[in-house]
Amino acid sequence: MPSHNLDIDLRELPLDISLGGHDIHLRSLQIGDEEALLAFGRRQPDNDLLFLERDITDHDEVAAWAEDTDAGRVQSFVAFEDQQLLGYATIERGHLRWTRHVAEIRVMVDTSARRLGLGHVLLGIAFEGALAADVSKIVAQMTPIQVGARKLFEGLGFEEDAVLSKHVASRDGERHDLVVMRFDTTQRQVCEACGQAVLTLIPLAGRQLCWSCYELEDVEMGAG
Ligand SMILES: CC(C)(COP(=O)(O)OP(=O)(O)OC[C@H]1O[C@@H](n2cnc3c(N)ncnc32)[C@H](O)[C@@H]1OP(=O)(O)O)[C@@H](O)C(=O)NCCC(=O)NCCS
Repeated sequence: MPSHNLDIDLRELPLDISLGGHDIHLRSLQIGDEEALLAFGRRQPDNDLLFLERDITDHDEVAAWAEDTDAGRVQSFVAFEDQQLLGYATIERGHLRWTRHVAEIRVMVDTSARRLGLGHVLLGIAFEGALAADVSKIVAQMTPIQVGARKLFEGLGFEEDAVLSKHVASRDGERHDLVVMRFDTTQRQVCEACGQAVLTLIPLAGRQLCWSCYELEDVEMGAG
């Protein structure tokens, strides 16, 4: 049985949640978050920085990211514990006329806070952002060594779209394949009680429910 509601509605932000003993504040990225982003980027292992479009260890690129978010060119969501950034997710639409229906989603969680559900929470928020922007295809890019990322995205219904051979070069010059995962938003799952589109459905008494309806009905059925 799930112990947390991991599917958070975009409209609930800013929001405080507790995950695995961490008190986490979720909100949109703001100008002023640059130093926390840089410190976060510099704590992450090289392998996890490979697939990123922006170098989040570089001051100018982080400043440009904050400005792009402020100007609405990209949606970015962050998770803070006190002053320390524990993770972020972004959603960015295609800039070309023929890719306006596609958005790329990116998520990263601090190595100290993984496997607590934060990746799922951040991904869910960014996913909602994509739906609100009327995107019909969501893609995510990762290297095959990012096993956790692949499992997380597959668990939410993403499928492999393409593998670009030797597409990513690491700092040591080694070339890695790039896996593109896709999610078709027209196939998204809908809660059978409230009709809300969600990432995960939980079976209860023969119906597939979102977390909120699951919790509500579970309590009504006397389990809570
Ligand atoms: C991928 C990433 C965001 C996952 O973050 P996380 O907070 O650890 O993920 P969650 O705790 O929400 O995991 C949800 C589920 O994903 C799967 N998963 C996540 N990490 C996993 C791992 N290392 N191995 C196996 N399964 C994993 C599990 O099914 C997990 O559920 P469970 O813990 O109940 O078994 C994190 O590992 C990360 O930042 N990686 C580097 C960046 C990256 O690869 N980003 C993805 C490309 S956009």
